[in-house]
Amino acid sequence: MSTTLGMRFVPTVGIVSVNRLAVVLLLALQVFAAQPGAPNPLAAPLRELQSGQINFLHTTDTHGWHAGHLLEASFSADWGDYVDFAQHLKDKLEAQGRDLLIVDTGDRIEGNGLYDASEPKGLFTFDIFREQHMDVICSGNHELYQQNSSENEYLITAPAYPNSYIASNLDIRDPRTGEFVPLAARYKKFTTREQGIRIMAFGFLYNFDRNYNNTIVQRVEKTIQEEWFQQAIRDPDIDLFVVAGHSAIRSQEFDMIFEKIRSVRKNTPIQFFGGHYHIRDYRKFDNNAYGLASGRFMETIGFQSIDGLPSNSTQMTSPTFFRRYIDNNLYSLYHHSGHDSSTFHSDRGENITRAIHEARQALDLDQTFGCSAKDLWMSRAPYPSKNSIFSWLDEQVFPGIVNDTQRGDKPRLVISNTGAIRFDIFKGAFTKDSTFIICPFTSGFHYIKDVPYNRAKKLIKLLNGGGEIFEEVDSTLALSRLEPVRQKGILQDIIVSETVDPAPLFAQGGHEMRVPTDVALIPGYTTIDDAGNDGDDTIHSPISFYRVPNCIQSLINPQAVDLETENVDVVFNEFIQPWILVGLKFLGLEYTDDDVAKYMPDENMTTMIAKWVSLNWPDDC
Ligand SMILES: *[C@@H]1O[C@H](CO)[C@@H](O)[C@H](O)[C@H]1NC(C)=O
Ligand SMILES: *[C@@H]1O[C@H](CO)[C@@H](O)[C@H](O)[C@H]1NC(C)=O
Ligand SMILES: *[C@@H]1O[C@H](CO)[C@@H](O)[C@H](O)[C@H]1NC(C)=O
Ligand SMILES: *[C@@H]1O[C@H](CO)[C@@H](O)[C@H](O)[C@H]1NC(C)=O
Ligand SMILES: *[C@@H]1O[C@H](CO)[C@@H](O)[C@H](O)[C@H]1NC(C)=O
Ligand SMILES: *[C@@H]1O[C@H](CO)[C@@H](O)[C@H](O)[C@H]1NC(C)=O
Repeated sequence: MSTTLGMRFVPTVGIVSVNRLAVVLLLALQVFAAQPGAPNPLAAPLRELQSGQINFLHTTDTHGWHAGHLLEASFSADWGDYVDFAQHLKDKLEAQGRDLLIVDTGDRIEGNGLYDASEPKGLFTFDIFREQHMDVICSGNHELYQQNSSENEYLITAPAYPNSYIASNLDIRDPRTGEFVPLAARYKKFTTREQGIRIMAFGFLYNFDRNYNNTIVQRVEKTIQEEWFQQAIRDPDIDLFVVAGHSAIRSQEFDMIFEKIRSVRKNTPIQFFGGHYHIRDYRKFDNNAYGLASGRFMETIGFQSIDGLPSNSTQMTSPTFFRRYIDNNLYSLYHHSGHDSSTFHSDRGENITRAIHEARQALDLDQTFGCSAKDLWMSRAPYPSKNSIFSWLDEQVFPGIVNDTQRGDKPRLVISNTGAIRFDIFKGAFTKDSTFIICPFTSGFHYIKDVPYNRAKKLIKLLNGGGEIFEEVDSTLALSRLEPVRQKGILQDIIVSETVDPAPLFAQGGHEMRVPTDVALIPGYTTIDDAGNDGDDTIHSPISFYRVPNCIQSLINPQAVDLETENVDVVFNEFIQPWILVGLKFLGLEYTDDDVAKYMPDENMTTMIAKWVSLNWPDDC
């Protein structure tokens, strides 16, 4: 099987076809299961959930993907299905006297048409999201870039979860009074219903500093010195600390919180929930403390259980921690809840599914700009190569479309960071929804005119390797900020060996697994974390990932002049301007923000890609 998979192309056998029939029948009976048009889930060997006294479901970095993935069978369940799943699992566990808590760690917005395509943004998503019960919920960084999106947290989401939203280090200016106030409670102390487990929960955000000035993110190291936190961690009547945070689980922020709690509570179990890096990951802090990161984009529902909690904090035995990454599709959700297509879907879940479908129709998200003849990958194909989305951008899209009428035929060097692209393009319809999925950022292109080419041509090398020179000038200019989010997490945490492109950077998995012989494995996540390689609920065949550079570039219209002695326009996406200026300075060219102007002022990356697709790809899929 080639690595350029589509989980949707894998043939299915045996029990699967029965299951698919059932789903088709279900749709025929007007029962919504996932979004209409979403691919049917495929059967695959599954690992079971192992429940404990206390159990958790965790989502993070959903970024508006509440409709699920309409082109990937592995992730095709929607938010309505998740609500049903959580309810069934809760019923099942409570019948055994066990507890289930539901957690979300932020970045719920930006990255999918369901959120981004409405005006104002998020018109439909808040009512959909709040249909899920939450026991602990906090804010991500994306909620805070703009004044109006953070005010939505304060005025819509926090009030929807008055007893669950936690803002341990986040304040907001109340738009009604002008005063800065905590966005929600700093902590939450509660006792679980079935087991009577006494929990102290926090909700942190990593040391984020790009928020708009109507919010204040207090640095974590400062927050944990505060009186309320010091008292909370000394509360004697606590069996378990739950630290939800929009933060990588392998981060200084979580280290500091862990150490501070441990400095006064030597053994009390601590469960961390994090995210931000868009990866599946599980970290052991010590025998009594673990952290779970549950991926991105509604691909993953994280399951965590803890058993053998001490009935009081003097007992010395270690509890058992267990994690599982559930692929968000109905095959998995039916299985783990012990239901099937005839019993799983409730009126409530169907209502949510229907609301999502209606919102997608109202936003015309299926409007098609053109048809892609093949999959274009961010990291599943080497760069450069014919299946790389970045090669497609720098060889075809930029030369075809980056052209400011004011500048005519002036040769130009167009530079973009790879982090500007958020997701793969699949073979098939490229829709209005795709535009927001591929590139949800609002920034447009800027340029500096008439830069000597013989120096400007060296920029790309600096941007792809000259880390020190940027961070010496400004410590916030880490080059890792230019690459795709997920690569940060992978490079930092999981990569075993760094080989030179274009060899696979790492092949996930590779360990022996017992697999029923009659089912073809679907390519997908094969996660390795601190607990081993058995975390994924679905047993997949591995996919190879390749490293991509921080930045890519195109030289457009080079034949117009003798480049070695002439000038070019240096065009770049707005986000990387600070790096461009520092890089040019290093090359002996002094420019400031005043030398920068907008290039193609009415366009941004999103509109340009959509325009290129309309002009170059056939309409008829
Ligand atoms: C915030 O304001 C901008 C500009 O007016 C608007 O386009 C956007 O939809 C608003 N976002 C939200 C979440 O209201
Ligand atoms: C916040 O930024 C806006 C400009 O975007 C500025 O007008 C305002 O004065 C700033 N407010 C504070 C408190 O700094
Ligand atoms: C705490 O646990 C120990 C060991 O199980 C037990 O002997 C003791 O009575 C418990 N103390 C309280 C206050 O429950
Ligand atoms: C479904 O939605 C309708 C209106 O949108 C509402 O009247 C009804 O109570 C909802 N049913 C459930 C089970 O949530
Ligand atoms: C850019 O636009 C100018 C006219 O504004 C045109 O002459 C030129 O051919 C265009 N170049 C490209 C590469 O599209
Ligand atoms: C890009 O620009 C278009 C047109 O100005 C705008 O409608 C769209 O919202 C922008 N894209 C993003 C992701 O903000």
